[in-house]
Amino acid sequence: FNLPALVNEPFISYGPKSAEREHLVQALAEMKEQMPFEVHPNVNGQDVAGTLDQSQQTPFNHSKMLAKYSHASPELVRQAIDGALNAKKQWSRTSLHDRAAIFHRAAALIRGPYRYRMMAATIIGQGKNAYQADIDCTAESIDFLTIFPTLAEGLYKNQPPFNAPGVWNRSEIRPLDGFVYAIAPFNFTALAVNLVLAPLIVGNVVVWKPSPGAVYSSWLFNHIMIEAGLPAGVVQFLPGDAKEVTAEVLKSPDFSSLHFTGSTAVFRSLSSAIYSKMEFWKSYPRLVGETGGKNFHLIHPSADLKNAVLKSVRAAFEYQGQKCSALSRIYIPASLADDFKRLLVKETEALTMGERFTDFIGPVISRTAFDRIANYIQEAKYAPETSLLAGGTVDDSTGYYIRPTIIETSDPRSRFMTEEVFGPFLCLYVYQDNDFGEKLFNLIDTSTQYALSGAVFAKDRQAIIEATDQLRFSAGNFYINDQCTGAMPGHQPFGGSRASGTNDKAGSAGLLSRFVSSRTIKEGF
Ligand code: ALA
Repeated sequence: FNLPALVNEPFISYGPKSAEREHLVQALAEMKEQMPFEVHPNVNGQDVAGTLDQSQQTPFNHSKMLAKYSHASPELVRQAIDGALNAKKQWSRTSLHDRAAIFHRAAALIRGPYRYRMMAATIIGQGKNAYQADIDCTAESIDFLTIFPTLAEGLYKNQPPFNAPGVWNRSEIRPLDGFVYAIAPFNFTALAVNLVLAPLIVGNVVVWKPSPGAVYSSWLFNHIMIEAGLPAGVVQFLPGDAKEVTAEVLKSPDFSSLHFTGSTAVFRSLSSAIYSKMEFWKSYPRLVGETGGKNFHLIHPSADLKNAVLKSVRAAFEYQGQKCSALSRIYIPASLADDFKRLLVKETEALTMGERFTDFIGPVISRTAFDRIANYIQEAKYAPETSLLAGGTVDDSTGYYIRPTIIETSDPRSRFMTEEVFGPFLCLYVYQDNDFGEKLFNLIDTSTQYALSGAVFAKDRQAIIEATDQLRFSAGNFYINDQCTGAMPGHQPFGGSRASGTNDKAGSAGLLSRFVSSRTIKEGF
């Protein structure tokens, strides 16, 4: 093989007067003019018309619909599974070269004719600003498309190291013996892309349930794959009622893997349902999940205060705190507390909020999310052990807006320091400087069940060494003097352990290996 060299897709600035900005403005205007789009399940390469009784609103304005869509019926899910298994006969024998060509062609389509439509779909549909949309639906999605073929190549090259004289041993890297079921979240178009592409590149077929909050960008991505040459039936796109689609999928003994990004509770309940009937499956299903988080920044007294504050603001409030990696608890030493809080509040209050694609803060995804986060903030504001430092106000008159909120607590084990909120909510705790060490590490490590992302900010090398060592299992992605969000494919493979997931990192070779089943072949001469 000679796959194209790996280079991360560069970010685009969309700066004032740039041609890119003009294209984006035009794409947004066109999309607003044309919406609502009609989205249907896509099975065996065809959109299958159904009743358009579902809608994807734009979070910026709940009276406007980006898409009307129909749910896949149980009957259609059954047809999709049959179609996928049929398509697999050919796809599993297609060479990596040919699969890679489709991936690279899709990357070229996003870079070219679809860039601005993908951007507009992600901005309008998922409530992102231009920067957040760019790093997601173009840069990261293209990165997955280009990195996976190269990682797969490494997997195929991985052969048994020994051959006795007159013997040739080899490993045949096969896809799983069935189909993969992918359940995607709303918050990253690229995460849906990762969920579908990882099994696909190693020859699997995928039954994909997109998120209701990202139906249109997901549909668009599916169409880009089809235009790039993906054979019919290899990916079956099934928007639908989660319980109904899942119930149908789990009736098939050919279900061979769940590839999931979403909440801990849902992954646990699906895992239990799957484990409860192990004798039913043709093979032991592979469960691959990225789930919740309560991600932390630990500030040491030696930290560069400005860097720690600016990175904390970004980590907590970019995309309204709706990244799985978002910062939501922060530990500050008493010696820095006054200056830290002052700058943190100043920077947070300066964040612009609104509908312009240059605004830092946009709306949260849906009515359900808005109500949940608003209630949470209300409780946090009036809890006896807390005080409100910033934000605390909400406004759903047009879109689902929540001001970035910072709460200080005197109880480091309170629910505000331990439960996932998935919104623009940061809880802060001031510790005594000389508690930095085992006592504090133990608190950080044991106060939540999650272990997704975390960071330490310090100039003192010994502090960095201790924190890195003692917080070994507290985060699957650990950052030193950098924010706990923004993992780049190929640079920082992303994923957590404990209640945060199975630790199969997005965009990694390890992830691909979960979707293969190898056959060892020995030939004597
Ligand atoms: N990859 C995303 C991040 O690290 C989830 O922020």
